[in-house]
Formats: sequence, structure tokens, C-alpha cells
Amino acid sequence: KARGAELAELQQQVEAIFATYEARLKNSAAELRLARERLDVSLPGRAIAPGGLHPLEATTRVVLDAMRHMGFAVAEGPEVEDAHHNFDALNFPPDHPAKEMQDTFFLAAPHVDAQGAPLLLRTHTSPVQNRAMLGKSPPFRIAAPGKVYRCDADVTHSPMFHQIEGFWVDETVTFRDLKGVLTELIRAVFGPDIPVRFRPSFFPFTEPSAEVDMGWKGGWLEVLGCGMIHPNVLKASGIDPEKYQGFAFGLGVERFAMLRYGIPDIRLFYDSDIRFLRQLSDRTIR
Ligand code: FA5
Repeated sequence: KARGAELAELQQQVEAIFATYEARLKNSAAELRLARERLDVSLPGRAIAPGGLHPLEATTRVVLDAMRHMGFAVAEGPEVEDAHHNFDALNFPPDHPAKEMQDTFFLAAPHVDAQGAPLLLRTHTSPVQNRAMLGKSPPFRIAAPGKVYRCDADVTHSPMFHQIEGFWVDETVTFRDLKGVLTELIRAVFGPDIPVRFRPSFFPFTEPSAEVDMGWKGGWLEVLGCGMIHPNVLKASGIDPEKYQGFAFGLGVERFAMLRYGIPDIRLFYDSDIRFLRQLSDRTIR
């Protein structure tokens, strides 16, 4: 009996010691984990450099935004075009100098259209007029942004550049609407005080035609061409010119961006110089 009591006491002692060590082991495991996973929240974070929009993309978005507010919907066309859409459907006469090798980039064989004529890099966004209207009926109010190509290079001309085409066709659209929309668009992008002038001009696909210049470096910079869409262009798109009329314009995105940011040389846009891009994105890009 006495042995039994001793053994019971021994068991209690062993269990107490076991419990103490068990608790100590558990605590130290938790402490180890805490130590391992410790975060020093006072350390400075690693900066993530935010990207910015390229000035040409930013300018395109500002223009398209303003056009969207005036009810224009966006359409696109191919950069590799055929002579029919780039020239013929736009009322260019067969011997027009723009079709010459010196002005237009033609693709080498075997890249030809259904007639066997070489395909080309579109020289303007105007072929989207025909592509967007054919098989549909007015009203049309379309904005068509994209890249265009010409054999052309100096401080205000690049062999690849961007245009935004705009056109509005309906029963009663007049030259007054053209002036109103373009004035509103230029004000939306540049504010009310920028000097603007309309100057008579010529395009085979508009009649009458005009060009718009804006104040730049003490003189003028041509930013867009425009006019009332020629009846032959409407006919080529299956639209009855006796019933419908409209205006069209094609603006140079680089030219708009040069004025917006005060850039003296068009080639800066394509150099990918991060110092140039950073200057612009800090100030104006939204
Ligand atoms: C055209 O391309 C006509 N398609 C515009 C048009 C559309 C007129 C609809 C009437 C109706 P133009 O060749 O002038 O026109 O070019 C339009 C604009 O593109 C110019 O005002 C200029 O801002 C810009 N541009 C022309 N060539 C270059 C170039 N090589 N580099 C940069 N911008 C250019």
C-alpha cells in the first residue's frame, strides 16, 4: 500500500516535469517562427517606377476623347492597303503624283491586289472613309486613328506618322458644321487662346478643301487637311450624293503633340530616350 502511494507521487512529479518541458518546447517553436518571420516595417520600401503613356498615345487619347464627346465612334482600317482604297475610291486621277514611287511605299511582289497591282502602305487614314461607309447607310460620325507612311523626312515630317481621320455624313451637314467641330476640337485640346487659321487648299476627295494651321515658333504649323466630301467619294462608298453630304478631316497626331508639348523636332518622338519621355509624362500625360 505504501509503495502504491509513492508510485502515485512519482507519477505526478514526472507528469509535472513533462508538462513544463512540453510548454517550453511549444513556446520556443513559436518564438523561432516569430523570429524567422519578423518584418522590419521601418525599412524603406522598394520604389515601383510607374509607366506613362507615350506622348503620341496620350495626344491620340485626348483627341479621341474630345471627338467621342461630339458623338464620333472609332473605326479602324488596315495599314497595308490597295490602290483602290488609298487612291481610286478617293477620286485621285490615274496619273496623280502621290502614286509615284517617291511618295508612296509599295510592297514588293508577291504582295498584290486582285488586279495584280502592288499593295502599299497607306499614305493617309482617308481610305477608312470608304471602308467604314460601304454597305451601310448614313448617318456616319466616325473617328479613325492609325499609322500612315510616306517617303518624307525632316524636322516636321516622318516616314511613319499618325493621323486621325474624322468624318460626318448626313442629310444636312455643311461647311459650317466642319468649322464648328474643328474649332471645338482644337479648343478642347489646346484651350481657347491658341492661334488658328483656315486656309483654302485642294484635295481630290474634298470640294471645297481647306487646311488648318496653328501658331508655332513665331510662324504657322500645318496640322490638318479638311473639306466637304467629294460626291465621287460618296458614290464610291454606295452613298447617294443627291441625298447625303458631309465633311471629312485628317489631322497629324505628331503635329498636335509638337504643339501641345512645345517640341521642335518630330524625330524626338521615336528615339525612345527615357529622359525625353520622362519630361513629358511628368507634366502633361493623363
Ligand atoms: C491628308 O493626308 C488628307 N488625307 C487629309 C484630309 C482628310 C483632307 C479628309 C480632307 C479630308 P495631308 O497630306 O495634308 O492630307 O496630311 C494631313 C496632316 O498630316 C498634315 O496636316 C500634317 O499634320 C500631317 N502630316 C503630313 N505628312 C506628315 C509627315 N511626313 N510627318 C508628320 N506629319 C505629317
